[in-house]
Amino acid sequence: MNTLGSGLKIIGSGTAIADQSLTNQDLSNIVETSDEWIQSRTGMRQRYICSAHENLASLGVKAGQKALAMARLQPEDLDLIILATSTPDDLFGSAAQIQGGLGASRAFAFDITAACSGFVVGLNVAAQFLRTGVYQRVLLVGGDVLSRWVDWSDRTTCVLFGDGAGAVVLQRQAQDNLLAFEMYTDGSSNGCLNLAYQAVSQRLTAGKTVAQGTYQPITMNGREVYRFAVAKVPEIIEKVLFKAQLTTPDLDWVILHQANQRIMDAVGDRLGIPSEKIISNVGQYGNTSAASIPLALDQAVREGKIKEGDLIALAGFGAGLTWAASIVRW
Ligand code: UT7
Repeated sequence: MNTLGSGLKIIGSGTAIADQSLTNQDLSNIVETSDEWIQSRTGMRQRYICSAHENLASLGVKAGQKALAMARLQPEDLDLIILATSTPDDLFGSAAQIQGGLGASRAFAFDITAACSGFVVGLNVAAQFLRTGVYQRVLLVGGDVLSRWVDWSDRTTCVLFGDGAGAVVLQRQAQDNLLAFEMYTDGSSNGCLNLAYQAVSQRLTAGKTVAQGTYQPITMNGREVYRFAVAKVPEIIEKVLFKAQLTTPDLDWVILHQANQRIMDAVGDRLGIPSEKIISNVGQYGNTSAASIPLALDQAVREGKIKEGDLIALAGFGAGLTWAASIVRW
């Protein structure tokens, strides 16, 4: 039995953003929209998207290298790599590409798909391996390249999303700095937000067909997802605080999935949490799906906002529909 104890801590973070900035002005040249509409409805000013020179794995490797550097670890120190993504470079999974790119030769690597909740789900999954002592060090990467799957003629969705990847290194230790977590799925509302495979039946031979289609661009019922987020995110944060025997004033920071500034403001209002405690970079990066929480986390850490010992509530929400929250001590 390992003597390190049955807790865990985040010991490093890093991010990688895509190579091309796309401003609201750029978008107004693509679809009928305006900087005024996008900023007032979402708080977004720009986002970054991948050119053909970059992909999910290259972003994941860069974010992972930065997180490892902060943690003062080598790639060979990792036991496990979890990639939370809905836009792998390869449908067989992209975690292995990140493992190869980093040279993390000892690490097992696998993908999980939970859309914009993916990073928080990944954190809670990683914790299970660390708490049981199966693994000592895990790299969790949250990344998405939704620019590949957006319908660039649909102004209701194409203005929202950006590409990026964020990573954290988690290490087993005696004290448990993941104080509580909660996760939910409501599959009855699955049709609100999809990047769905559309099968086309093709005859193979007499009496046999195959369904070879392709994924269709993102579709979203924005108003429904907005209502869902504003109702469920405060609720899950209250539940996770209750589990950790804490109350909202105990929190130093709240990091929500960066989908919309109005959602973050509404969640803060409902919980009575002052806006200064709610970390936001949606104006700069847009909605980067599984990358949005680690992007905001890493930025706040590097700016010196988040300090050792701070209590942070993390909450992701999105397609599934899924929503997940964790309370972490930095
Ligand atoms: O990461 C996954 C989770 N996703 C989310 O959390 C997204 C949640 N939803 C939202 O953030 C918001 O619903 C949106 C930002 C997507 C939309 O904001 P909204 O205030 O709910 O706008 P709306 O959909 O009610 O549309 C209002 C109007 C419509 O015109 P009419 O029907 O009132 O004439 C839209 O056609 O705004 C129009 N519109 C636009 N106008 C200019 C929609 N998109 C645009 C646009 N530019 N890009």
